[in-house]
Amino acid sequence: MKYHIATFGCQMNEYDSGLLSSLLEGVGCQATSNTEEADLLFFNTCSIREKAEETAIARVSQYQCFKRKNPKLKIFIVGCMAKNKGKDLFKKLPYVDYIIGPDHYKEIPEIILKHKHRHLFIDFDETENYQGYYAKLQTPYSTSVSIQRGCNKRCSYCIVPYVRGKEKYRDAIDVLAEIQRAADQGVSEIMLLGQTVNAYHNENISFATLLDKISQINGIERIRFTSPHPRHYNDELLDVLISNPKICNHAHLPLQSGSDAILKKMRRQYNVEQFLSIVERLRKNNPLYAITTDIISGFVGETDDDFEQTLNVVREAEFDNAFMFIYSPRAGTESFQEKETLSEKEKWGRHERLVVIQNEIISKRNKLMFNRDEKILVERPSTKDPEEWVGKTDNFKKVIFKPNQIVHPGDYVVCHINDIRGWTLRGEIVGE
Ligand code: 5AD
Ligand code: SF4
Repeated sequence: MKYHIATFGCQMNEYDSGLLSSLLEGVGCQATSNTEEADLLFFNTCSIREKAEETAIARVSQYQCFKRKNPKLKIFIVGCMAKNKGKDLFKKLPYVDYIIGPDHYKEIPEIILKHKHRHLFIDFDETENYQGYYAKLQTPYSTSVSIQRGCNKRCSYCIVPYVRGKEKYRDAIDVLAEIQRAADQGVSEIMLLGQTVNAYHNENISFATLLDKISQINGIERIRFTSPHPRHYNDELLDVLISNPKICNHAHLPLQSGSDAILKKMRRQYNVEQFLSIVERLRKNNPLYAITTDIISGFVGETDDDFEQTLNVVREAEFDNAFMFIYSPRAGTESFQEKETLSEKEKWGRHERLVVIQNEIISKRNKLMFNRDEKILVERPSTKDPEEWVGKTDNFKKVIFKPNQIVHPGDYVVCHINDIRGWTLRGEIVGE
């Protein structure tokens, strides 16, 4: 049987799609990028904002007619929206065959054999952390490894704890085995994943210790992780981040708001001063340390003054990049109970002001890279011009270069950054 997975949402979903691929290939299924020849069509969905669910539903709707052409076709909705909307999805999309939540992927091969008709598997399994199951590599040189599933934080706006359940950590031995296997297959860059990834602890192993152990695996050159929670940066972690050269100089550190009053309402467990002190410590020894973030504009009760404070923190922290969102009330969350205080227009107005300010900061931060020699992990030819290639610096900046030698995805080369157009860094190879 041939399968195709369309993935929506975050990197955890990308990883889970890799897990699903290896489970399906383990029972003889083959991947296809052509949806028309697939017998099993999976939609791995996201619920974080309402728009994410609407997009996924619209996509699934396009495949109804495929069933007429191929009566054997089975359509699966998996992931967060499967858990969130459950059997309502069968009402909305009657041609969908299976709805499967994030704790039931291992059962899919059996479900296909046993249940010929529509079926729903969405209850939480608090013991399921896919111990011993390894995802298909995302690329031959760089891949993600999940170390934590679920989240215990319950930020008041967030649906994740309700669709992914309680925090579960994988055994360090299992994580190291998955990374060793990836390294044996040629992977040199690892992205560790978890909703609050730096809260990782298992038996006596802290996140800092895990990072150190990973850095000792032969072949692993770059270690990244996402998303850390500001509450879980301690001295032990900051020391290892600064001292271990294999841990990349980039942190995705979600701010959400720059107002202490809003952070409290969001139940974020830190204040602005604590957040900025992490930024300062990370950049103290290395001003090029890249910090990216997530910011929500227009949270319930956010006043003009609260929003001005967010803009001030954005100016002070000088984020290298930011994902900026409009607050989207999610049924079931704490803040959903509260009546919104801002119109859509007001929320968008704030968002647009933020985007303008942040964009200028991105240009300013990128300019710091000019005239530097940077080690690049070569990724792929550029989509615009196949004679040019794309790679990434240690601090997660994309660099475009025209190779003066043969390069392959996964190579490391040193590029001299000699041009910056808008947000794009350009360079030429000056060494290996
Ligand atoms: N509305 C808008 N943005 C949200 N996020 C999470 N929940 C919501 C919501 N209800 C954002 C946060 C989080 C990122 C993954 O998505 O900024 O860090
Ligand atoms: Fe959501 Fe907060 Fe958990 Fe992040 S830490 S997944 S924002 S509840």
